[in-house]
Amino acid sequence: MKQFHLSIVGFGTVGQGLAELLVSKQDMLRVNYDFEVVLAGVATAHSGFIYREEGLDIPLLLELAAHRRPLQEHPEVKHWDTALEGIEAIGQWGDVLAEVTGTNLRDAEPGISHIRTALSRGMHVITANKGPGALAAAELSALAQKHGAQLRMESTVMAGTPVLSTIREGMAGVHVTAIRGILNGTTNYILSAMAAGRSYSEVLTEAQAQGYAEADPTADVEGYDAVAKTLILASLVFGQSLRLEQVVRQGITTITQEQMQKAIDSGKRIKLIASLTQKEGTLEAQVEPVELPLSDPLARVDGVMNAITISSDSLAEVTVIGPGAGRLVTGQGLLADLIAIAQSK
Ligand code: HSE
Repeated sequence: MKQFHLSIVGFGTVGQGLAELLVSKQDMLRVNYDFEVVLAGVATAHSGFIYREEGLDIPLLLELAAHRRPLQEHPEVKHWDTALEGIEAIGQWGDVLAEVTGTNLRDAEPGISHIRTALSRGMHVITANKGPGALAAAELSALAQKHGAQLRMESTVMAGTPVLSTIREGMAGVHVTAIRGILNGTTNYILSAMAAGRSYSEVLTEAQAQGYAEADPTADVEGYDAVAKTLILASLVFGQSLRLEQVVRQGITTITQEQMQKAIDSGKRIKLIASLTQKEGTLEAQVEPVELPLSDPLARVDGVMNAITISSDSLAEVTVIGPGAGRLVTGQGLLADLIAIAQSK
């Protein structure tokens, strides 16, 4: 049976979600896919990087994280002060790096350095971190190719709901002309609750408690998170590297209860819509609140659910709907990427 050594860099909501899935799905991976994953490395900003070739005790790691105790309390581990030092050192033993530190849209650090270092050492990388894909997908894909490694980022867009693989693999051969979607779970959760008469601040707190929101929820409510996903789609689906400023952006913070009610009274719903449209050779990108008629499939997508409608030559419109944020939901996207890598080896 094949064995993969995995290291998870970033052990917050998403990293822990992936670790939980590695435990609950380990028999399924052996039986259905004929491989097993050894979680050998884990890193956080506070604990640095710990590594144990024979595998780490996942329940113990989860317990240490839950009690905010240093991960180095795990017995028999090698330790480096930073994730980067650890990745540099383990490059020769590690098969796959899961990069799940927080998204930073200014310079994509520290995730982009982790990914560059891992790919340069021939490690495959799976990531839920939106910064590197949004700012440098083309550069990182080229780096992966140069070193014979794979870079997969399914869970950066709509978390574990398969969008990138649906378009790139399931819809291979079509010519995509436009994409429209609800790509942020937190804002859709807030807008849906506001449509039901609840207050903005109350539901934002709820979305944070559920682990949907970014560390700084401004990224969600001002539309930056949806912009990041739009940039990733521009690059991976349309092959165009847009800059952040090229996406027209408006968040949901100025939407009032009155506007919400007015839309409902006229048979519409307000949704934060990300769109990419090919027009005469240019790719137009927008993230903004839009009033949608109920006949639009996106209008009825509520709560933390996300949806995307892909327009193309041979399939007209395909709409994918599914959960867009959350611990296990995002972990599932990473697991799917891991399985894809295992199957391609
Ligand atoms: N904060 C993001 C959202 C997490 O609410 O959609 C998933 O990318």
